[in-house]
Amino acid sequence: MSALGFGCWAIGGEWQDADGQPLGWGKVDDEESVRAIRRALDLGVTFFDTADVYGTGHSERVLGRALGKRRDDVVVATKWGNVFDADTRTLTGGDDSPEHARRALTASLRRLGTDRVDLYQLHLADADPVRAAELREVCEEFVREGLIRAYAWSTDDPERAAVFARGEHCAAVQHMANVLQDAPEMFALGEETGLASVVRSPLAMGLLSGKRRARRPLEAGDIRSRPPFWLQGFDGSGADPAWLARVDALRDVLTSDGRTPAQGALAWLWARSPRAVPIPGFRSVAQAEENAGALEKGPLTEDQMAEVERILGR
Ligand SMILES: NC(=O)c1ccc[n+]([C@@H]2O[C@H](COP(=O)([O-])OP(=O)(O)OC[C@H]3O[C@@H](n4cnc5c(N)ncnc54)[C@H](OP(=O)(O)O)[C@@H]3O)[C@@H](O)[C@H]2O)c1
Repeated sequence: MSALGFGCWAIGGEWQDADGQPLGWGKVDDEESVRAIRRALDLGVTFFDTADVYGTGHSERVLGRALGKRRDDVVVATKWGNVFDADTRTLTGGDDSPEHARRALTASLRRLGTDRVDLYQLHLADADPVRAAELREVCEEFVREGLIRAYAWSTDDPERAAVFARGEHCAAVQHMANVLQDAPEMFALGEETGLASVVRSPLAMGLLSGKRRARRPLEAGDIRSRPPFWLQGFDGSGADPAWLARVDALRDVLTSDGRTPAQGALAWLWARSPRAVPIPGFRSVAQAEENAGALEKGPLTEDQMAEVERILGR
């Protein structure tokens, strides 16, 4: 599996919660998404992360279509735990029951057009750990049945991740980290348990690409236009000026050795932990090419990492 995965949240298109809060990244062009995935494959990306709820099923369908006959060349990760209404593209709740896990897996396999999920991830970040221990055993059953190869919990809580880590086929934890938002406890857990870190939001939801230099509102329908409480770095008027200033301050070190800012942000993660597998989101062939291009440039050097810490005062 490549050290870089592609995150398929944005390509699910628009969806929302019951209060109308946008949960997607605005409108997307499916044909461009398919071209971007195929371009990524050509450039050596062999890991794709999606979820049943992204675009209420749409992301899984687009990914399945784009992979087509190349399905066996890649590692496909998806997630379960959220409940949604695909007709209205609305998130309606969560379900941590074993019965739901099986129902959700069956539906994901159908949408992805495959007979197994390589990495199946619990999407309920704050689920009850006792319940999660039960779900871990359900996942072991799915492994025995050949329906999944391995599983993970998408959570930023090391204690919860440790509950899943006790399972024989738990291979990873998915958590947030990027050069602006380090996750020392999660990386330490990876070292202790041997789990890989599937790193979400590696570009701080686009901020680290450096293209948002001015404070401008985002398109309606984009989650960043009305950020929920957990989304940092944006407010109702656009990117937070304090965050933009930190991105600017990092520009020189991240763009060393001919990298673009986004490539530098990915290089920081590879230097941060040998177990880090960043999964940047994408919306176009151009973004796919730029992000995949980070692979050949590799991690930042020790000196560059020290410079980052100095600039951020950590
Ligand atoms: N709870 C969970 O399990 C969870 C939560 C969040 C994310 N994830 C996963 O992690 C993946 C990535 O995280 P994320 O989507 O939060 O954010 P991210 O990877 O930090 O940022 C992705 C966004 O940055 C912009 N971008 C990407 N490449 C770019 C480039 N080369 N140049 C300029 N802009 C670029 C695109 O948006 P614009 O072009 O619109 O700026 C893209 O959608 C998701 O797709 C999903 O698979 C999982």
